[in-house]
Amino acid sequence: MSVLTVAGQKGGSGKSTLVRNLAVHFALDGYRVGIVDADLIQQHSSEFFADRAKEAGRDVWNPREDVPGLSVAVWDRNSATVPTAAIVLAPQTDQDSIGEVIQGLADALDVVICDLQGSASVAMIHAIHYADLVLIPVQPSNDDLKSCHSTARHVLQAGKSARRTIPYRIVISRASTGFRPEVEKVVEAALENAGLPRLNTPVFERTAFKRASFSRVAPVFDDPDGGAAKNMAAVYAEVRDTLATIASAASEVA
Ligand SMILES: Nc1ncnc2c1ncn2[C@@H]1O[C@H](COP(=O)(O)OP(=O)(O)O)[C@@H](O)[C@H]1O
Ligand SMILES: [Mg+2]
Repeated sequence: MSVLTVAGQKGGSGKSTLVRNLAVHFALDGYRVGIVDADLIQQHSSEFFADRAKEAGRDVWNPREDVPGLSVAVWDRNSATVPTAAIVLAPQTDQDSIGEVIQGLADALDVVICDLQGSASVAMIHAIHYADLVLIPVQPSNDDLKSCHSTARHVLQAGKSARRTIPYRIVISRASTGFRPEVEKVVEAALENAGLPRLNTPVFERTAFKRASFSRVAPVFDDPDGGAAKNMAAVYAEVRDTLATIASAASEVA
């Protein structure tokens, strides 16, 4: 099992977009995937895979049955066992329980992906502690650059307190296709100079990703030969290979 934490102290950087699409790509590749939605303000990952209903004043999440080719289940944490499905969603995971939820899913499934609120939080620190790999999406802007430095520092400090190296990668998010504006080159150079590791593949700004937030149909289903689906397939392949490299390095040390 691997735990992938998508973190960042900025809203709108594309965390939930990355979580949802990576979950679909891992699942289509045969991995059993868990999603921990620890964003208690905007449950965008949960809303993508489940329908919210109100029962006696509280939210109840019913798994969607119409995700093409993939079964989805919601883990009701009153139940001791994690359900069987291609994607298992743990919605509204709060900071008091996030560690137990990550561990519970990780024990039962192949990959656990944590979606977080766009702020430094106790949940973020816990999810970083559990991570085999932290992804930090950053939009090409100066504000985003500053906040990604701060998140990277949290990862480094968490690693020190855990007495292990916690691998992380910056993911350039919402990058321009075609003509690359100067600001993107500046951000990439700044990351390079600061020695912050990043994925080679950016996530591009694509209408198809935005459209999917309405339709709840991932680009890989909607338009499998389109730019967004191909882009996400490449991001997925790099994330999967990075996790595999990390796992084999860890087993050599052990
Ligand atoms: N690569 C992208 N291309 C186009 N729109 C995107 C992309 N990434 C995110 N968005 C849009 O930006 C908004 C915020 O994205 P989201 O993934 O929810 O960010 P976060 O979870 O970091 O707050 C959403 O409307 C989403 O559809
Ligand atoms: Mg989000």
